[in-house]
Amino acid sequence: MTYELIIAETRGRVGLITLNRPKALNALNDQVVNEIGTALDGFEADDGIGAIVITGSEKAFAAGADIGAMASFSYMDAYKNEYITRNWERVKTCRKPVIAAVAGFALGGGNELAMMCDIIIAADTARFGQPEVKLGTLPGAGGTQRLPRAVGKAKAMELCLTGRMMDAAEAERAGLVARVVPADTLLEEALATAGTIAGYSLPIVMMIKESINRAFEGGLNEGLLFERRVFHASFATNDQKEGMAAFVEKRKPDFRHD
Ligand code: HXC
Repeated sequence: MTYELIIAETRGRVGLITLNRPKALNALNDQVVNEIGTALDGFEADDGIGAIVITGSEKAFAAGADIGAMASFSYMDAYKNEYITRNWERVKTCRKPVIAAVAGFALGGGNELAMMCDIIIAADTARFGQPEVKLGTLPGAGGTQRLPRAVGKAKAMELCLTGRMMDAAEAERAGLVARVVPADTLLEEALATAGTIAGYSLPIVMMIKESINRAFEGGLNEGLLFERRVFHASFATNDQKEGMAAFVEKRKPDFRHD
């Protein structure tokens, strides 16, 4: 598969997607988002991939949805085509863990793309925000829903209503970001984290991701029940037998991802 606006490659058991539209600070148009979706399809179908990293450039993870592309849209253009969010769901439906490695700007749809991922690792240069209010619109790819779940209502309100950016340290304090690392080690750290995850049993990793997502998508009792059922189901995997036997026998497990 050849791509124009992203680079998709593999590093061991990790799939790496690099947004590659530097002149527009990785602004997300339909083509970029479609290419991300195609790359995710490939990584999901590949048994040799256990985790995925999405990253941008030094200056921008992504500075938002492409403003020029949507500037003249009518309501009907937006509504009928479910612009632009139609194809963004692919990131959310990915069953393998996805890490966003963010340096520079993650604004508007860029921040929303990062929040669709399972873990955000930020360079100390990262800046996060939802500046849509300044453009006379509002977040449209989950910003008003995922941001309050990540950072709480007060800070989400403040960020979305003022459009101000927060830096990496504030984003980590607020709980948006799992970890902040020096910018020149960002990719290395993200790939190492993805590599650790990809070294574990893939079905178990998928069960953990699915269970944690329940914490954001439903009530506590429903989530606890879901977790218990998936926990029980993990005893049907060969990797659970291997993982626990290896511990008892004081050796490294050899996961076969089944
Ligand atoms: C299209 C963009 C863009 C965007 C930057 N560019 N952001 N093009 N869409 N979102 C382009 C600029 O037009 C410029 O192109 C080039 O990238 C470099 O940007 P500059 O502004 O010159 O860089 P700088 O002065 O460093 O400022 C960086 C910036 C600023 C603070 C990130 O570019 C900015 O405010 N961008 C817009 C951020 C934003 O509002 N995002 C939300 C979009 S709405 P040229 O050709 O002039 O060199 C959104 C809605 C999501 O995301 C809804 C659901 C999908």
